[in-house]
Amino acid sequence: MRPTRGFFLIGFLSVGGLSAWPSWGAENPASLFTDICSVCHGVGGRGDGPSAAGLYPKPADFTDCKAMAADSDQTLFKIIKEGGQSVGRSTVMPSWKDSLSDDQIRSLVKYIRGFCKK
Ligand code: HEC
Repeated sequence: MRPTRGFFLIGFLSVGGLSAWPSWGAENPASLFTDICSVCHGVGGRGDGPSAAGLYPKPADFTDCKAMAADSDQTLFKIIKEGGQSVGRSTVMPSWKDSLSDDQIRSLVKYIRGFCKK
């Protein structure tokens, strides 16, 4: 790659902001989750992240298949996009609509489903 193209790419990424950051693409929900969700939800999705101890209600435990089965993918999508409040749950679960694209949120829903191993 010629050096000029490298410069162009860097400029594009910084203008694009979070959603254009390569390790945070919709195709890599694992690093998204670890970087921004695991402080509360825990790297393994158990709701035991470092910030969870001080929270009420506790962050959802994504490995609890029964509890997770009660919510549709659309509900999970809405909670992530617009916050817990949007479906009558806690405001402790933030809204991510300003920093994540719909594609990123969809891939996170799929990723979260993967924590439930029957
Ligand atoms: C500040 C702590 C915090 C962060 C950061 C956070 N969450 Fe949450 N989340 C919560 C809490 C607390 C709840 C439970 C809300 C309730 O039950 O009222 C929750 C609930 C949820 C639910 C609903 C689960 C269910 O029971 O149906 C989903 C899905 C979810 N979070 C996904 C995410 C994703 C994806 C991220 C990262 C983009 C994230 N959360 C980041 C605290 C957090």
